Amino acid sequence: MEEETLVYVERDKLRELFKRKLTQAGLPEVQADKTADLMIFADERGIHSHGSVRMQYYAERISKQGYNLEPNFEFTQNGPSAGTYFGDNAVGHYVAYQAMEEAITMAKNSGIGMVGVKEMGHSGAIGYFAEQAAKRGMVAITVCQSDPMVVPFGGTKPYFGTNPIAFAAPRQSGEPILFDMATTVQAWGKILDARSKHKAIPDTWAVNNQGEPTTDPFEVAALLPVAGPKGYGLMMMVDILAGSLLGLPFGQHVTSMYKDLSQYRRLGQFHIVINPAYFGDERLFLEKVSEMVDELHDIKPAQGFEQVYYPGEIQETVKQRYAKSGIPVAKSIYDYLVSEQLY
Ligand code: NAI
Repeated sequence: MEEETLVYVERDKLRELFKRKLTQAGLPEVQADKTADLMIFADERGIHSHGSVRMQYYAERISKQGYNLEPNFEFTQNGPSAGTYFGDNAVGHYVAYQAMEEAITMAKNSGIGMVGVKEMGHSGAIGYFAEQAAKRGMVAITVCQSDPMVVPFGGTKPYFGTNPIAFAAPRQSGEPILFDMATTVQAWGKILDARSKHKAIPDTWAVNNQGEPTTDPFEVAALLPVAGPKGYGLMMMVDILAGSLLGLPFGQHVTSMYKDLSQYRRLGQFHIVINPAYFGDERLFLEKVSEMVDELHDIKPAQGFEQVYYPGEIQETVKQRYAKSGIPVAKSIYDYLVSEQLY
């Protein structure tokens, strides 16, 4: 497979290009700004599945009113630590961000903040929201629904989404720990990224429409859960928290990202924020997390490994590298970003 040429774009310039396209398509400024922020968060960490490769799709969905561009958001607090955030099918990046702010406030006031986010569009690389809380001294978990494209363990037909889980914890110094994974071997965006670069994929990621492993990203019909029955169990857990619990469509009833771009997605997300101050000595906690990272770094790497990394550390090193080199973007996508073409 012939690889596509890459263009290296400076971070702030790329962020501006994202924002320009989003507003051009009709997204209100404040929402476009947050969405561009999430997209750059992904691309600058090498999470290319959720950066520039999605822009054409977002612009088309905005243009076709597949997002509510005049939403009425509503946060309802149902208890000291529990509430729901109605996203009115606006762009998910902005909705999930706002809902996380409510969860942080409740955790500050009562030790825990749990917010079920109801009815929104796709929210991107969800580690962003966990980090949002960790940067304010909180421990956070967030999970969300995604469109059905994964065969359940032992099955031949897609049922669950790639339903990601993100966890973040602050530490005494340095960036928070940030564990952020799709419950599939790989996120669907990695298939899109491989398609955009015309790169073959490993045969362990996905199956074709016969249910057979494939290395051709253009042939992919469904993804595989990570670690067989374990990933399958985790994606079900995510769907129960972010879907059934909130009275939203679940499993195979979740709408598809690419089928009808003028239809609202009605997706759910679930944020859990924990205030360390309510569980012990906050300062000691931060020290212990830092100590854990130091001890992990001290472990002798196995053959073929450079070092033991904490979750999120590889992405931080990529970010530092790209700060010098620029962020790689497929040339065809770059040409689109700088063009006047809407989508
Ligand atoms: P990944 O497989 O690249 O990384 C998963 C985790 O493993 C990360 O926390 C990473 O820091 C850690 N990790 C990777 N290599 C490591 C190493 N050598 N040592 C220690 N830790 C290491 O991530 P994946 O599963 O491909 O997900 C990519 C993104 O896709 C995530 O941001 C996720 O939120 C997003 N996503 C969003 C969806 C949505 O519908 N909104 C659906 C599915 C995924």
